[in-house]
Amino acid sequence: MILDKLFKKEVKKYCIKAKKLSVSYGKKEVLKDINFTIDKKDIFGVIGLSGSGKSTLLKALMNFVHYKGSVDKMKGKVGYCPQEEAFFDDLTIKENVLLFGNLNSTPIDESIKRAEKLMERLEINEPLDKPAGELSGGQKKRLNIILSIINDPQIVILDEPFAGLDYMTRLLLWDFITHLRRQKKTIIFTTHLLNEAQKYCSNVLIISKGERFAMGSVSDLKRSLNFKLLVNVKFKYLSQDNQDKIKDYCEKRDLLVLGLNTDSGAFGVPGKNRMDNLVSMIKRLDTPFDVVEYRAPSLNEIFMVSVK
Ligand SMILES: Nc1ncnc2c1ncn2[C@@H]1O[C@H](COP(=O)(O)OP(=O)(O)OP(=O)(O)O)[C@@H](O)[C@H]1O
Ligand SMILES: [Mg+2]
Repeated sequence: MILDKLFKKEVKKYCIKAKKLSVSYGKKEVLKDINFTIDKKDIFGVIGLSGSGKSTLLKALMNFVHYKGSVDKMKGKVGYCPQEEAFFDDLTIKENVLLFGNLNSTPIDESIKRAEKLMERLEINEPLDKPAGELSGGQKKRLNIILSIINDPQIVILDEPFAGLDYMTRLLLWDFITHLRRQKKTIIFTTHLLNEAQKYCSNVLIISKGERFAMGSVSDLKRSLNFKLLVNVKFKYLSQDNQDKIKDYCEKRDLLVLGLNTDSGAFGVPGKNRMDNLVSMIKRLDTPFDVVEYRAPSLNEIFMVSVK
């Protein structure tokens, strides 16, 4: 048994496994006992509101912050692109490329060749001797990414790579991320762009106030939540007393009240039957209303419920 372990190289099925990951800044605990597994070749999205701990989680994966718990990472090069620009404005693109390449012990020729290829792919049509500080905001964002992967890493960690990019550039970046995945790389990134995450991520981790709220494929998450239909109702005038009755009804039956006021209500229900029951209950209140729509919720709507 021991010999087996000594001689058989253990091949990890996962890329990263974190157990009970907790991070505190001083006395403030910003990540609490988070467990997650990132598979090889995943496009893994970390989703959460501002301040929920996304960047801190990526920093923990990089060992940039002190954490409790364990992070087991497969062997291989890692590229990390921080949320803020990491390069020097006063240096040219080329000088930055050489600096970052050198940090990762990448040979000079290789760094330049890779930078040129990546700049073409990410459509930065600028000469290498241009000062990095003279690039546009979107170009800087892309240069930041290029510098983080100049060493051709196996694991690519990107903090908010899409923030501030226009629609076409976001598409370009998605195309690039899927290209990296085809090269068998694992991509981990944070985002607020949920509908796009829904389209491209193989798995997502939703963090709410430093805690894991949910993890899995978007369709699994949708399935697991008791929120299959979003029902929007319009009222002529809904009194406070009737609002309280509806809230009470929903609370007792585990229906979500996403919003309720004198002229409208939005509810999350697990299915059509439960929606019909809710509508019958509202009818009994004897107040004019219309069911304006009922439909499957978007990832955005599920997310808003998650982090409430
Ligand atoms: N170096 C630090 N020292 C003290 N507190 C910090 C530090 N970095 C982050 N925090 C705090 O930790 C919490 C989580 O921050 P973090 O940057 O991880 O959030 P985030 O989810 O990435 O937010 P955003 O979407 O705005 O980038 C916040 O309350 C933040 O103020
Ligand atoms: Mg952040």
